[in-house]
Amino acid sequence: MLKNTLCEAVLAGGREILRFFQSDFAIRHKEGINNLVTEADHASEKAIIDVIRRNYPDHQILGEESGEIIQDSRYKWIIDPIDGTVNFANGIPIHCVSIAIEYEKEIIMAAVYNPHLNEFFFAEKGKGAFLNDKPIRVSNQNKVIHSCLVTGFPYTYINMPNGPLEIFAKLVRKGIPVRRLGSAAIDLCWVAAGRFDGFYEHKLEPWDSAAGFLMVTEAGGKVTDHQGNPFSVYQHFVLATNGKIHDEMLDVINNKNQWHESPN
Ligand code: IPD
Ligand code: CA
Ligand code: CA
Repeated sequence: MLKNTLCEAVLAGGREILRFFQSDFAIRHKEGINNLVTEADHASEKAIIDVIRRNYPDHQILGEESGEIIQDSRYKWIIDPIDGTVNFANGIPIHCVSIAIEYEKEIIMAAVYNPHLNEFFFAEKGKGAFLNDKPIRVSNQNKVIHSCLVTGFPYTYINMPNGPLEIFAKLVRKGIPVRRLGSAAIDLCWVAAGRFDGFYEHKLEPWDSAAGFLMVTEAGGKVTDHQGNPFSVYQHFVLATNGKIHDEMLDVINNKNQWHESPN
């Protein structure tokens, strides 16, 4: 029942994305210079919440656009109605609906859906991660120098030691491919599917990371903060890898690394 509602909710959001994509939708600016929200973000979130409320009227909800609905329940649905809104607004078909279900403060189920690629990611705690119903696993790469990575940058740049551009420069100067897709939820799902060996980002919110976090861990990967502590969706820094390059990535992020360049 929980799984059916989750899948129904994610598909309802995806339908709204397709309805508005490349049409004449209204756009507003949020905090930060290019942090957009469109009519489609609101329509997707409304469609998702309608499905959840119909099936579970007493569950808590945390939606990016509508905020928190606090109730006396151990369940909380964490919703990003469009992850990758800037892509959406520019007609770039790399964005998705991302929903996670938290039970007693633990993420237990998640779904991420990109309606353009028709890619539906699903994960359940202890039961694995799936792409269009087929099990997925993280990659086997064990050296950062040979990895294919992905990252994202916040709308409001954060100046700090080992900030987003410093780490990016360090990797790129070594010739390591670091992609920037513009959707953290997709980035995480693609780590889970073994397309990327690792993902890091400095400033994410729970709706960006919650679903993708479960996808990566259920696909055999590892997710922590920048110090290697167990990940909580309520803190901002995310490092998600296949597990094998995790410690080396932590060293890169904390400026302690020595490159291991041997091919084996
Ligand atoms: C953003 C995307 C992007 C990441 C930003 C997020 P939004 O979410 O996930 O990849 O770099 O930090 O805010 O605003 O498109 O839902
Ligand atoms: Ca987001
Ligand atoms: Ca969003």
